[in-house]
Amino acid sequence: MPGTKKVFVKTFGCQMNVYDSERMSESLSPYGFTQTDSPEDADVVILNTCHIREKAAEKVYSELGRLRQIKDQRRENGKGTVVTVAGCVAQAEGAEIIARSPVVDLVVGPQSYHRLPDLVFRAQSESRRIVDTNFPEEDKFAKLPERVVSNAPAPGGARLASAFLTVQEGCDKFCTFCVVPYTRGMEFSRPVASLLDEARRLIERGVREITLLGQNVNAYHGEGPDGSDWTLAKLIAAMGDLEGLERVRYTTSHPHDMGDDLIAAHRDVPKLMPYLHLPFQAGADRILAAMNRKHTADQYRALIDKIRNARPDIALSTDIIVGFPGETETEFAQTLALVEEIGFAQAFSFKYSARPGTPAAKMDDQVAEDVKSERLQRLQGLLAVHTSRFNADCVGRTVPVLFERMGRQEGQLVGRSPYLQPVHAAGEQDLLGRIIPVEISGSGANSLMGVIRAA
Ligand code: 5AD
Ligand code: SF4
Repeated sequence: MPGTKKVFVKTFGCQMNVYDSERMSESLSPYGFTQTDSPEDADVVILNTCHIREKAAEKVYSELGRLRQIKDQRRENGKGTVVTVAGCVAQAEGAEIIARSPVVDLVVGPQSYHRLPDLVFRAQSESRRIVDTNFPEEDKFAKLPERVVSNAPAPGGARLASAFLTVQEGCDKFCTFCVVPYTRGMEFSRPVASLLDEARRLIERGVREITLLGQNVNAYHGEGPDGSDWTLAKLIAAMGDLEGLERVRYTTSHPHDMGDDLIAAHRDVPKLMPYLHLPFQAGADRILAAMNRKHTADQYRALIDKIRNARPDIALSTDIIVGFPGETETEFAQTLALVEEIGFAQAFSFKYSARPGTPAAKMDDQVAEDVKSERLQRLQGLLAVHTSRFNADCVGRTVPVLFERMGRQEGQLVGRSPYLQPVHAAGEQDLLGRIIPVEISGSGANSLMGVIRAA
């Protein structure tokens, strides 16, 4: 009976979790579930969690506190609720979550969520608490139902103009600070044919931009239709050939896997957007070595030069960690210097957070919290100047904008420039899902304002 049951999904963390959340709720739709925005109405609640830093992981428990009241309230009204913890906290903590939080019925890891309908059914009918954090032999992507992306406008008139597509998952790089190899498992690339198939289905439903996702996406090496190994560059070119798709992006990359063919794709594939997220984490070679990053600061600089030669207008983005164990003031200054030198359009910066089971958590000379906070503040001050400058430099130019949703103000549209900046412009709802030239008239800390030139 379609539409008789409801699922509420809350997503924490990275874009891959956003993708996984979509696939999880889609997997329940053949069993009569529709999505809801309010947990009060939900027969199944899924928290799709992130374990990358302590703060992210803690959010789950505060959310579970809130859910406990909702679940009690529903029970008083004779309704059951299956409270599910999915994602990376589920993988990392498993049965501990069940022990710590009586409200939780089901714990499911990122590699076993294709079993969700069965697990939910068992949790409901056997009324017992279940943990599935296996790394099964079978490929979850082969088991999941095909994409059922809704074509109906969402509340606020948004259409799905831009979509994520996981092409690679897991990581064997073992940066010493990072939990990803433990929560997502070893590197795995999906076969090309299934990716092109999924991309076509997204395009049929109105998607104009696809972001190829992977924890280490540029290490992609999937089986091609001819049985040979394909690189990410080859996959991007094939995506670029799909009719109806206008834009291709990819994230996240590791400098070590930034091959020449991928750099060349930024010059040769018109649909590949001039934007690259390439984390460098720290500016001092001693810290980079302790992080097991497999590159030096100079190698990163040389790589950026090469990329800028191939695509001079490329906007660069990065991730930076401050206060890794043993980081001195001088070493932190090298991070600031590298930022100053490269000039990132966008950046994400974090205080180092010791994660259970990772080598860096056991290192001596952990940096004091107040020192980390002070360094982060200085770094973010500098990054903000660069982002504002990058945005201000766009004023006066006309750039193609893919409109994705209505803005908060009446008659306002919000879209993205090729450089991933949010762009606000006055316009009609029928421009959603279309790419339109916009003359940039103003800039802010994190977005642009513009005037539509022609529709
Ligand atoms: N502490 C702080 N930041 C971290 N990141 C990954 N692990 C940690 C950690 N233990 C950051 C890195 C990575 C981004 C996704 O999160 O910068 O690129
Ligand atoms: Fe973590 Fe990225 Fe390093 Fe993998 S490559 S271990 S995801 S920081």
